[in-house]
Amino acid sequence: MSKVTVAKSAGFCFGVDRAVKMVYGELEKNTKVATLGPIIHNQDVVNDMKAKGARIIDTVDELRPDETVVIRSHGVGREIYQQIEAKGNKMLDATCPFVSRIHKIVAEKTAEGYFILIAGDRDHPEVQGIVGHCDENCLVFKDNFELKAFFEKNYKNLQKKLAIVAQTTYNIVVWGECLNVIPKDDPDIVIYDTICNATDARQSDAAELAKDSDIMLVVGGRHSSNTVKLYEVCSRFCKTYHIENSDELRSLKLPNANKIGITAGASTPAYIIKEVQTKMAENEILAANQDEEIDFAQA
Ligand code: F3S
Repeated sequence: MSKVTVAKSAGFCFGVDRAVKMVYGELEKNTKVATLGPIIHNQDVVNDMKAKGARIIDTVDELRPDETVVIRSHGVGREIYQQIEAKGNKMLDATCPFVSRIHKIVAEKTAEGYFILIAGDRDHPEVQGIVGHCDENCLVFKDNFELKAFFEKNYKNLQKKLAIVAQTTYNIVVWGECLNVIPKDDPDIVIYDTICNATDARQSDAAELAKDSDIMLVVGGRHSSNTVKLYEVCSRFCKTYHIENSDELRSLKLPNANKIGITAGASTPAYIIKEVQTKMAENEILAANQDEEIDFAQA
């Protein structure tokens, strides 16, 4: 009989939990709530919020006069705060404190004359928010190769001190590779390890479990950066599948496996992880009566 194990740290992180609670808390008092982008990468939770009255808007221009606007855990650039202030709407700031810390670092270091290097995905809202606190005094790099190219081509001409930060959900393995290409003992370079503990713990726990599993299931939104990172981390060690919820198990043909591991991104509520775990356990009984693979279409 195979064993189904959930990683020690999986699912909602502190920052997402806090943001979700802030929205529900506001909805209890006032149904006129607009979130600046989906509050989390989980369609079930977003749909529930919409049913209770929340609207998702893409820009501050879309705000209605009597709405409370919620800034999500990814945070936003300085300009967005100014736009909201100009509109005069009530604002709830659910920016994760780990992200706010990065905003503070890059703003202070920019004011001190440093150039800012940001490890991350330049299209991700969190990175765009960080860029928005740098006064256009920054460069985003995605990996050690881009960072190496910067040091080879641009660093000498820049004539500025450097401050280096990372997106909170940056891949810890790639971050280690980046640290290796930064010139050692250069007093003009300061490095801030801003990968958040939740990301670090989730990726380390997922890697440990993947090393000891035949297959891994990573549960979380397709657009969730930290879920995609978990998928990448686990794929290094065993066959890995990314699903958004337990319904998607139906379309998977999983190989028979003795040890099945489950982990989940920071936007995945506990009940969705539980559903996947329960279905795996139920279907594992089905698999025990077959000899080849687990076919969820028969469930
Ligand atoms: Fe915050 Fe880390 Fe979660 S930065 S939103 S606690 S993944």
